[in-house]
Amino acid sequence: MRKSTIIAVIAAAFIAPAVHAADVTEADYQKAMKDVLGAMQASGKAIREAGDLSAVVAGAKTIDSALASIDGFWAARKDAEAVKMNAASRAAAAAVGKAAESKDVAATGEAMKALQGTCKACHDVHREQLPDKTYKIK
Ligand code: HEC
Repeated sequence: MRKSTIIAVIAAAFIAPAVHAADVTEADYQKAMKDVLGAMQASGKAIREAGDLSAVVAGAKTIDSALASIDGFWAARKDAEAVKMNAASRAAAAAVGKAAESKDVAATGEAMKALQGTCKACHDVHREQLPDKTYKIK
């Protein structure tokens, strides 16, 4: 994951930023975020029901790959802070997956809370809610 981030940053800096900016559109971004939300909800449900944590293992993978798909968006904008926040969120998702793999419900719940904190950190800075309750990137 680090490697692809670095490659994206280097590509954005040295090749053609405009082309890369077009790679991940705002629509792609919203789709990735919806995938993330779906996986969060499924994982949260599994944790609350303290049942089969394999849904959480799968959810963490979905979250990681959805967030990976938007790495390039921030790299193309040369927003190093956002790239970092996205990486932090992916690392937190990996930690959720690891806790779930160990079948530790309490640890998985804690890791999930930490993950939610990383979502909020980025939303506070980069997400704007419009009057119709939809969002846009800022
Ligand atoms: C690096 C920044 C960043 C991270 C990390 C991030 N988000 Fe987002 N998120 C955004 C931005 C920017 C938008 C607004 C996108 C838009 O609507 O154009 C957004 C929008 C959303 C939306 C609304 C999508 C829609 O259009 O209906 C949901 C839901 C969401 N994020 C969930 C999450 C969750 C859950 C996490 C953590 C697992 C997360 N996000 C992590 C930046 C981030």
